[in-house]
Order: sequence, then structure tokens, then C-alpha cells
Amino acid sequence: MSNLQLFAIGVGSLCLICGILAVLLVIADRYLNDYGECKISVNDGEKELNVKGGSSVLTTLKDEGLFIPSACGGRGSCGMCKLQVDAGGPPVLPTEEPHLSKEEMADNVRICCQIKVREDMEIRVPEELFSIKEYEGSVESITDLNHDIKLVRFALPEGEELNIIPGQYVQLQAPKYKKNPEPVYRAYSVASDPLDKTHVDLCIRLVPNGICTTYVFEHMKEGGPAVFNGPYGDFKLSETDKEMVFIAGGSGMAPFLSMLAHMKNEGIDRKVTYFFGARAKRDLICLDEMKAFEEAIPNFTFVPCLSEADPDDNWQGETGLVTTVMEKFFDDLSDKEAYLCGSPGMIDASVVALTGRGMKEENIFYDKFA
Ligand SMILES: Cc1cc2nc3c(=O)[nH]c(=O)nc-3n(C[C@H](O)[C@H](O)[C@H](O)COP(=O)(O)OP(=O)(O)OC[C@H]3O[C@@H](n4cnc5c(N)ncnc54)[C@H](O)[C@@H]3O)c2cc1C
Ligand code: FES
Repeated sequence: MSNLQLFAIGVGSLCLICGILAVLLVIADRYLNDYGECKISVNDGEKELNVKGGSSVLTTLKDEGLFIPSACGGRGSCGMCKLQVDAGGPPVLPTEEPHLSKEEMADNVRICCQIKVREDMEIRVPEELFSIKEYEGSVESITDLNHDIKLVRFALPEGEELNIIPGQYVQLQAPKYKKNPEPVYRAYSVASDPLDKTHVDLCIRLVPNGICTTYVFEHMKEGGPAVFNGPYGDFKLSETDKEMVFIAGGSGMAPFLSMLAHMKNEGIDRKVTYFFGARAKRDLICLDEMKAFEEAIPNFTFVPCLSEADPDDNWQGETGLVTTVMEKFFDDLSDKEAYLCGSPGMIDASVVALTGRGMKEENIFYDKFA
């Protein structure tokens, strides 16, 4: 047997042993450690929760009807589930460190999906999160916007209403199904007109092998149940009258549908140019809606941009990356604001392009679909 083969066997065995140990630790933690009943004191005793120990703080609070933003569904990747934990909880874990600044660590801020309830705790929850609710609604309709984006319209339960500030998102539950052993939540920006308080529209793009989007594309049925909670987020139009630049790609269209409906309803006539990036014509969505908004909202211009237009597209519009097209339209952005929504790559490139044209970072607002 060659040295290389021996080395490979050694590494393989080590990985196997580590894997088995990790599984045993998880099983031991779940079945042998009984943390009994723990008390969580919220905001200096404003709420006292008696809970069963052993689950993450995020899940425990959710089970008690306290919903903390958790766009990645508790995987530790979004960093949104920050809470101040003044007593109880282990030392900061390596999985929390990437999301916490030195100041936050000094202030006892924690990533609450990563720490478990194992003893009595004292935590602080921002007051505005107390009003977030979970809704057991239904799927009213599912419409193809293109080959990989669906518009899903949910109805709230009879008699209930949801007040959305345009730009906010909800967290949709993917229930247990073949490839998903436990219900998980994912964030989706609300696309509906904020005046319609009994429905929530979401634009959902299929992520191949993604847990929630596969559920939506393959298992969700019109008339079936749907669980979601919200609203979350502070991505919203400012109250200035500054000229605005919108930039989005794919399902990043969603919050702008809601913002434009709001501008139309309220007669807001701030100048806005909306650059929407797509590869080819087949990837474009909501062209009729954008045309209608152009007619209804004074000073609104929609600029679809194709980066890889198909020869068969016969495309007469703008071509190139959305950022390059935006740069063609504006030399100086120093007195304007920008609103961005879509993939982290598109947002990072847009921030570079906008600041390169003089836009101040504090005038750039975004939601990254990460
Ligand atoms: C604030 C916020 C708002 C959002 N709004 C929307 C929205 O309006 N419409 C929408 O379609 N999505 C939106 N997203 C993204 C959404 O929350 C999910 O991340 C996405 O739908 C994938 O979920 P999944 O369970 O199908 O995939 P997962 O099972 O979570 O992921 C499967 C794999 O795909 C990767 N992945 C995850 N998300 C993406 C992605 N977006 N693109 C490429 N790869 C990915 C993961 O790293 C993983 O490897 C938003 C995200 C945030 C944080
Ligand atoms: S829910 Fe995303 S990091 Fe905790």
C-alpha cells in the first residue's frame, strides 16, 4: 500500500471517528441532559416565561409566541437573531463570533439561535418585536412569473389583518416533507399592496435543492395551509423627498412592488428610476405591472437591463450589467438615495457603483437575500 493510500485511510478514519463522536454528543445532549424547567425573565420582568430547557433560545421564544428575526431559520448564517442576554447562557460560541462586534459582545448581545436554554436567563427583547404574530393562513393562488419565480398569494385567517410597511418581510414555514424532517422558516419580502391587509403576496425564486423553495414549487397547493410570521425588517422608504434609484434582480422585485403600490396610493411623486437586472428576456418579470406604475406614478421610470440577451430576444432595451446601465444614467448621485434588493453579489457590486458616483453610504438601503 502506498504512503498516499495510507494517508487517505488515516484521514478518512479520523473524519469518521470525529463524525461518530459529534453524533454521540448531539444524542447525549438531547436525551441525557435534562435541564428541567427554566425561567426566562424578559425586559426586567415585563414577561416571565417558564419553559422547558434544552432547545435554542430562538425556538424556545418562538414556542412562547415571541418571534425574533431569523431569516436563515436558525442555521447561524444570517446573524439577524441578536438579543441581549444579561444572565444565563454559555460564553460566546465560535459560531456567534462572526456576527458580533466587540461592542456587542461587551453588551452581552448573543446570536440566540446558537445558544440553548440550560438555566434561568435574563434577556432583553426590543419592544417592537412583541407585536409580531404567527398566522395560520391559506394559499389563495400560485402564479408563474417566469420559469423560476412564482407569485404566491396567501390569505390571512378569517378576521385577522397584517399591517406591512412596504419593504418589510415575513418568515414562511416550510413544513415537514420528504426532504425536510423539521419545519423550517425562511424570509420573503412582501410584494403586496400595503392597503390589502388580509393577503400577503410573495415572489419566490426556486433555489435548486433549497428546502423551502422546493416545498413551494413542488408541494404547496392552492387552497392548502400556510404558516407565516411577521412583519420584520426596517428596509423602507425614507421620509425625505430625495430622488431615488431602485436596483433589483430576480425575486428582489418583491419589495418594490409593495413600495410602488404605496407611492401610487399616497400620490408620492419623488423621482425614481428602477433598474431591474436579468440575464435574458425569459428572466424578466412584472413588465405589465411596471408599465401600469409608470402610467400611475409621476416621475417613475422602469429600466429593465439584460446582461446576456438571447439573439432570439430581439431586445431593444438596455444591455449589460444593471450596475453598468445605472452608471450610464447618472454622473453624480451625491444628493440621491438608493434602495437595493437581491443577491449579496448584486448588492455589493451596486454599493461600489453607487458610492463611485458620489452616493453617501448612509443613503443606501438594502435587503440582501442571503
Ligand atoms: C430579508 C430577506 C428577504 C428575502 N426575500 C426573498 C424574496 O422575496 N424572494 C426570494 O425568492 N428569496 C428571498 N430571500 C431568500 C430566502 O429567505 C431563502 O434564503 C431562499 O428562498 C432559499 O431558501 P431554501 O430553503 O429554498 O434554500 P436553503 O435550503 O436555505 O438553501 C439551499 C442551498 O442554497 C443556498 N442558497 C440559499 N439561498 C440562496 C439564494 N437566494 N440564491 C442562491 N443560493 C442560495 C444555500 O447556501 C444552500 O447551500 C430573502 C432573504 C432575506 C434574508
Ligand atoms: S437565525 Fe440566522 S443566525 Fe440565528
